[in-house]
Amino acid sequence: QQDEKIRPHRLEDYIGQKDLKDVLSIAIAAAKSRQEPLDHLLLYGPPGLGKTTMSLILASEMGVTCKITTAPALEKPRDIAGLLVSLKPGEVLFIDEIHRLSKVAEEILYPAMEDCRLDITIGQGRAAKTRSIPLKPFTIVGATTRVGSLTAPLRDRFGIIQRLRFYEIDELSLIVQRTAKLLNTPITPEGAIEIAQRARGTPRIANRLLRRVRDYVQVKSTGEINAEIANIALEVFNVDPMGLDWTDRNMLSAMIENFKGGPVGLETMAAITGEDTQTIEEVYEPYLMQIGFIQRTNRGRVATPAAWKHLGFDHPENR
Ligand code: ADE
Repeated sequence: QQDEKIRPHRLEDYIGQKDLKDVLSIAIAAAKSRQEPLDHLLLYGPPGLGKTTMSLILASEMGVTCKITTAPALEKPRDIAGLLVSLKPGEVLFIDEIHRLSKVAEEILYPAMEDCRLDITIGQGRAAKTRSIPLKPFTIVGATTRVGSLTAPLRDRFGIIQRLRFYEIDELSLIVQRTAKLLNTPITPEGAIEIAQRARGTPRIANRLLRRVRDYVQVKSTGEINAEIANIALEVFNVDPMGLDWTDRNMLSAMIENFKGGPVGLETMAAITGEDTQTIEEVYEPYLMQIGFIQRTNRGRVATPAAWKHLGFDHPENR
């Protein structure tokens, strides 16, 4: 990915997530003064908010490297065992989508996280023996979009559990300005705000939109990105003023037109949009709930009056 160039490397360069940064800077300072590795850390929240970035920052603040993997890649016992033995003292192991860890992988992880011990079984059946191999102290940073799907024993082995929240417009606008500088793209503060407003509270989306606007300026215009140009460019790319894309709008309009705003079940929402239920729950819904466009009820999802209005429909209560 082109990400590496624009990722912040120090905690002080990481914009937003103040509570998280406060917690982590204390944990870092304490671990350093005890000359111990950082406690195992679980980060959860919607995608694109900076979980991987934060893990890389932690490693560099601790003066160690960070190995990055994802739970589906650790299917067999030897995948995770191999990784754990290869870790250098104090190293950070980032495991993305940690709620998808297989049962065997999880069971290898328990003693490793708790006692720096790798328990392996050699042979099969009655001849099987278990051996215990000591590991160097290390830090696991687990990331997940759904903390509720973690088993309790796994969750309990993390010393620090923190949620990442959606970013405010002013924070996103600073991120856009920072990225623009790194990409040598002149941008006005108003231009940055325009992009920030459509980024769904998500730095990854803000940076992606910035790249699209930058392309547009390069081809169609000259000079800096200002509010007007950002606006025109983002219209071309079908991102509306609330940052909703085609799928969001399609989903909300179908809820309103075909179901009078709901409640609509998750399966039905998936059928309407052609996305799977997990993507709806973890990618689309969190932001639509955050901006108050949908609500979850026990009978399904409901489009709120604000959503009706945004999509140009007359809410029954206003008629
Ligand atoms: N780029 C992506 N996310 C960021 C953040 N939170 N702070 C600074 N730069 C970023």
